[in-house]
Amino acid sequence: MLKKLLSYVGKYKKEAILAPVTIIGEVAMEVLIPYVMASIINKGISKGNIKHVALMGALMVVMALVSLFFGAVAGRFSAVAAVGFAKNLRGALFKKVQSFSFANVDKFSTASLTTRLTTDVSNIQMAFMMFIRTAVRAPMMMIFALIMAITTNASLSLVFLCAIPVLGAAVGLIMTKAHPRFKAMLTLYDGMNARVQENLVGIRTVKAFVREDYEKQKFTESTEQVRKAQVRAEKLVILTMPFMQLCMYASIIAILFFGGHMISGGNMLTGDLTQFITYVGQILMSLMMLSFMFMMFVISRASLQRIYEVLTEESDIVSPENAVSEVEDGSVSFKNVSFSYFKDMNNLSLEKINLDIKSGETIGIIGGTGSSKTTLVQLIPRLYDATDGEVLVGGRNVREYDLEALRNQVAMVLQKNVLFSGTIKENLKWGNADASDEEIIEACKHACAHDFVMSFPDGYEQDLGQGGVNVSGGQKQRLCIARALLKKPKILIFDDSTSAVDTATDASIRKAFRENLSDVTTFIIAQRISSVQDADRIIVMDDGKIINVGTHEELLKTSDIYREVYESQQKGGDE
Ligand SMILES: Nc1ncnc2c1ncn2[C@@H]1O[C@H](COP(=O)(O)OP(=O)(O)OP(=O)(O)O)[C@@H](O)[C@H]1O
Ligand SMILES: [Mg+2]
Repeated sequence: MLKKLLSYVGKYKKEAILAPVTIIGEVAMEVLIPYVMASIINKGISKGNIKHVALMGALMVVMALVSLFFGAVAGRFSAVAAVGFAKNLRGALFKKVQSFSFANVDKFSTASLTTRLTTDVSNIQMAFMMFIRTAVRAPMMMIFALIMAITTNASLSLVFLCAIPVLGAAVGLIMTKAHPRFKAMLTLYDGMNARVQENLVGIRTVKAFVREDYEKQKFTESTEQVRKAQVRAEKLVILTMPFMQLCMYASIIAILFFGGHMISGGNMLTGDLTQFITYVGQILMSLMMLSFMFMMFVISRASLQRIYEVLTEESDIVSPENAVSEVEDGSVSFKNVSFSYFKDMNNLSLEKINLDIKSGETIGIIGGTGSSKTTLVQLIPRLYDATDGEVLVGGRNVREYDLEALRNQVAMVLQKNVLFSGTIKENLKWGNADASDEEIIEACKHACAHDFVMSFPDGYEQDLGQGGVNVSGGQKQRLCIARALLKKPKILIFDDSTSAVDTATDASIRKAFRENLSDVTTFIIAQRISSVQDADRIIVMDDGKIINVGTHEELLKTSDIYREVYESQQKGGDE
């Protein structure tokens, strides 16, 4: 896992390696400074040699400056490497998510994908920066300082033999106990992020239902849970600081005690003792840093796993090798097609669908909510794959086509369609990036969108705001239809695409389709019979099955469901 993730350091590898290398310079200076200090005391101050004091003092200043320089350079390298790593990781995640099928997205949920792309990447960025700074620094400092301490006075170094294992064991114990607590905290963090996302996406619904207080309370509860979990985890971690101080002062007392004896016995110089005490600090400090690094790893491990999951997820809908790139015509066939969202033949949303549609036909689809109308048509552009049976487009199984080629020929106006921030024209050009202004206007006229677009102050250059908030529901639907028309596909699917449009406009859109799209196979899913009644054939669906197929007149005679729906809608219309 780590190996794969680290490969995303990519072109920032140079910085990632230079950071620890420059840190060696910094550490070397830090460890040598106490040595010079000892020399000032032993040879300078004790012997009244002012010249030596001045010389060594100057050397110390130079060393401090060199250390500062290396420290700053290392800081820069590590920041550049970590930020670059995060950028590459985000890019890779985003690219991966783009390749996901609907089924893949269902599996992770959009909220969780957002968290993974933002919070989790930031966690890893922090941990990585920390890692390349301390992974070298802490052990180096410990080894250098130990060597210096032993060369200064080997017998006094025995103190470390006690202090290091004691502190190491204590820190190790604390960290093992803290790990599960951090994991629990991250799971709660996830929940909190999901709440924020859901609330922001649905803010209009929240306001419409006056659920602000409820949402606030829910959010407070979830932040409170995060707070508690965080306190529970941090409570343990902060124990390391007092522990380390305890060890440090105990070591200093021991060193002063034994060192004092050695000095009075004439076996040690005063300067060596001060030098030694500095090494105590450095050695225990490096132990602390090591444990802190370990803790960061613990915190970021959950994030690493979550990112790895996304990166290694296989998109379950991909173009085959030697894919067919030309869709012959707009014919569509379903051969014994069954479908389950859960790939479970005992939990089917579509059951044994058989249907042959000629190129250029107009097919209406009627059925109650949840009768799997959307599910049926989603199989045509291969948004999902049939669980059993075959879906054919232009006489070939949809799995044989290059995905892009297939979807370019099968334009679908989704039931839950969205526009994006940008101008109207930019949004329409999603359908066809090379569309000319004339083509755009023509498509909009067919979709009955031209008039209202022209009524905006900026016309086609009108900015839509994020998610297309600046247009009404019915206007949005018409823009989505125009966007699909611009693709000039062989098959067009409208999933409830005129539900928010008034009946008169709906009728003129259909008239425009009849006159201009006679050679395009068209699927119209609708709740209103009037939207489908002049289709070549109408499919009546119920509970994942096709109940009847026929023209409007035929169905009035043969289908009870159809007739009932028609009559109830007629009555509504007469009133
Ligand atoms: N992404 C999904 N994951 C799991 N189940 C789903 C998913 N989408 C739809 N379903 C289920 O599949 C069934 C058919 O849903 P579908 O959206 O096809 O109905 P529909 O006929 O289009 O309804 P409507 O008229 O309300 O749009 C429903 O029972 C629904 O709960
Ligand atoms: Mg639907």
